[in-house]
Amino acid sequence: MSLSKRPMSRRPEVDAPPAEERLIPLSQAFQDRFGRAPLGAAEAPGRVNLIGEHVDYNQGLVLPAAIDRSVLVAFAPRPDAEMRLYSLDFDEESRFSLAEPIGRDDAHPWSNYLRAVAWVLAEEGCSGPGLDLVVAGNVLIGAGLSSSAALEVAALGALRAAWGLDLDDRRVALLAQRAENEFVGVQCGIMDQFAAALAVADHALLIDCRSLEYQQVPLPLAERGLALVVADSGLPRRLEESEYNRRREECAEALRLLQAAMTGRRPGSLRDVSMADLEEHIACLPPALFRRARHVVGEMERVGTGVDALRRGDLEAFGGLMNASHASLRDDFEVSCPELDRLTELAQGLSGVLGARLTGAGFGGCTVNLVQVEAVEAFREQVVGRYSGETGLAGRTYVCRAADGLRIWPLASH
Ligand code: GLA
Repeated sequence: MSLSKRPMSRRPEVDAPPAEERLIPLSQAFQDRFGRAPLGAAEAPGRVNLIGEHVDYNQGLVLPAAIDRSVLVAFAPRPDAEMRLYSLDFDEESRFSLAEPIGRDDAHPWSNYLRAVAWVLAEEGCSGPGLDLVVAGNVLIGAGLSSSAALEVAALGALRAAWGLDLDDRRVALLAQRAENEFVGVQCGIMDQFAAALAVADHALLIDCRSLEYQQVPLPLAERGLALVVADSGLPRRLEESEYNRRREECAEALRLLQAAMTGRRPGSLRDVSMADLEEHIACLPPALFRRARHVVGEMERVGTGVDALRRGDLEAFGGLMNASHASLRDDFEVSCPELDRLTELAQGLSGVLGARLTGAGFGGCTVNLVQVEAVEAFREQVVGRYSGETGLAGRTYVCRAADGLRIWPLASH
């Protein structure tokens, strides 16, 4: 098909340069900007959610994987309380002082995530000297791959290292979420920050969002000749925040109604509600809320079944659950859109695709696909190429590896 001849760059979509290579221009930029070498750089990845969508804030299990696209934050302490932040991607600088209350800088929105983590550490009673920081990332921004969580976790990693703070990675994730909720003002759950902080390469991260316990689940993709393919719809997430908050409220309202109806056994969250409970109390829920709850309860079941399938190496079964997850997000939770549905439909119709679903909050952004390696080229052309031709949107294909979470790279020799 002629669409395969689209003049789209292919290499950068396939192989992201490893952090080792990106550290060289990062250090150089630091040197140019601040006249000295950075002490080190913290790195935190973006993520895809394999399954368990809109479940984290309902206290269920989720299964994201970190991807090999990340944010780097190079750092060096200063002799005063100034924080000088430079974004290599935006070529912009923003400054504030740790000696004064930390406010926002909406002329440089990227800097608010760094301000947020400095603010949350101050709230926790942690302190240290001012810092020079240079930020550079290759996580697609605004595409549902959690670039903001990656930035928050990398920034916390940099401040932890520079200030010698005794915080484990789990605590870093929780602080990053608090920074996002209370300073940035987005009511996200815990999934993205946990993935950015705690993921391990070639594993998915199973997070119990009620107990906050987590486990690494091996992802035997290469052994099975499979690739993790992220397809960007090219559609910026619209309505995401308002609709996201509305879905959270709808879940809370469904829970309240179920609590009032299930007098014998009052559920503490939708985690405590089974599909049989839902069917039994269908009359107490307006139809839309019933569908919202059916997605959440069904998705929680799919995560459990999916983890069992992964553990026994049944990736076909896992792929089938991904497809079912997309259908439920589309029909019951209503967070998809025609573009994501088309991208998913084309993928599911291609031989060699085991599963395809929207990933993240929805309303645009990306899909995640489990694809046989030999079908990746066909995916690029017959799924994303065809989608782009039909919609006029710049769809893109990213072949990802499941990567490590937060890490620190020492840099300075003087
Ligand atoms: C966003 C939020 C997450 C999660 C997903 C939906 O990515 O940041 O906490 O709720 O949406 O699964």
